[in-house]
Amino acid sequence: MGENGKPLIQSFAMNGGDGPNSYTKNSAYQRGVVDAAKEMIDGAILEKLDLKSFCLGNIFRIADLGCSIGPNTFIAVQNIIDAIEQKYKAENQTHNLNLELQVFFNDTVENDFNTLFKSLPPSRQYFAAGVPGSFYDHLFPKSSIHLAHLSFALHWLSELPKEVVDTKSPAWNKGSIQCTGYVKEVADAYASQFKNDMRTFLDARADEIVPGGFLIILAAALPDGVLMSQTVMGMHHDLLASCLYDMAKLGLIEEDKVDSFNLSSYFPHVSELKELIDENEYFKNEKMEILNNPWSFELQTVETVFSQIRAVMEGIINDHFGNMINMDNLFENFCHKLAEHRLTCDQKFCKNTELFILLERKKFN
Ligand SMILES: C[S@@+](CC[C@H](N)C(=O)[O-])C[C@H]1O[C@@H](n2cnc3c(N)ncnc32)[C@H](O)[C@@H]1O
Repeated sequence: MGENGKPLIQSFAMNGGDGPNSYTKNSAYQRGVVDAAKEMIDGAILEKLDLKSFCLGNIFRIADLGCSIGPNTFIAVQNIIDAIEQKYKAENQTHNLNLELQVFFNDTVENDFNTLFKSLPPSRQYFAAGVPGSFYDHLFPKSSIHLAHLSFALHWLSELPKEVVDTKSPAWNKGSIQCTGYVKEVADAYASQFKNDMRTFLDARADEIVPGGFLIILAAALPDGVLMSQTVMGMHHDLLASCLYDMAKLGLIEEDKVDSFNLSSYFPHVSELKELIDENEYFKNEKMEILNNPWSFELQTVETVFSQIRAVMEGIINDHFGNMINMDNLFENFCHKLAEHRLTCDQKFCKNTELFILLERKKFN
């Protein structure tokens, strides 16, 4: 619980609309994850999905969890549908997909669903529906989804671990806005929250996905032995923190307010994530492989990286600081720092890891 006993739930809504600072215009990095997974999705569906048994019901339901506002969600969904069509044609020797497709786009209630709905592909071959709510809750009726997909969203926790904002706790995360990995107590608090969230997430999906159905997760993680602040993304978060503290030093915002600001995101180590998945009794871990993101931060210009980070962070910062912060001043300073650190970034920092994870809902429990 935070101030006034409120749960420490953060609003993660990406910048809405389709303007220059929107997520729509600034999500090439996340697009890279979706692109890199296409081949693996094709392989998973062609080789492992028992489509014949699902065709009996004549309707195939897909859910994209944490979809945001596009365009990545539409690309991910189309990749899945293309693979299903290919498999169907191969099995039925016909060009007509005699299967109705329904796609559920899920995100939290703060998401800009209007922009999402307005930009639905006009030539889509599926029935579309929006499902507002947290993927840590139940979102669908029992055994109703054939394939659930989630890309670049699993690192958002259901809430911030309370210890990191408790000034009396050894896990108080003063001076930082993320789980850097350097302070054991802070790292333990975040890891424990992630563990609980992961169990809740998998148990909810186990109820909703039909036996034999798939849960495909494209997740950002840390290579084993690497700390968050040693990665490019971690470095970006630390630079943003230093900009917030610069503003506090200038008296533009209160230092206490910066101290109490923490990102409720956690990037698990690859082995930690694997362990949590393997301990779940309802899913069979079919595949866990590293994705090669062609749009990695290291290959993009400072301006592009800056815009992508702003599209993700602005709403979260606004949620905490409200109108006491001048967003343009903050991000101007951030852009300068990003340019200064750019040269050292490639040599000094490690890459983040993105994973393709294919889970099959077991048939017997
Ligand atoms: C970085 S965006 C990724 C969006 C999209 N999947 C993509 O690949 O471009 C993460 C999204 O996850 C959503 N998200 C975070 N936590 C969530 C939760 N508990 N339930 C539903 N959506 C969530 C955020 O609102 C955000 O839209």
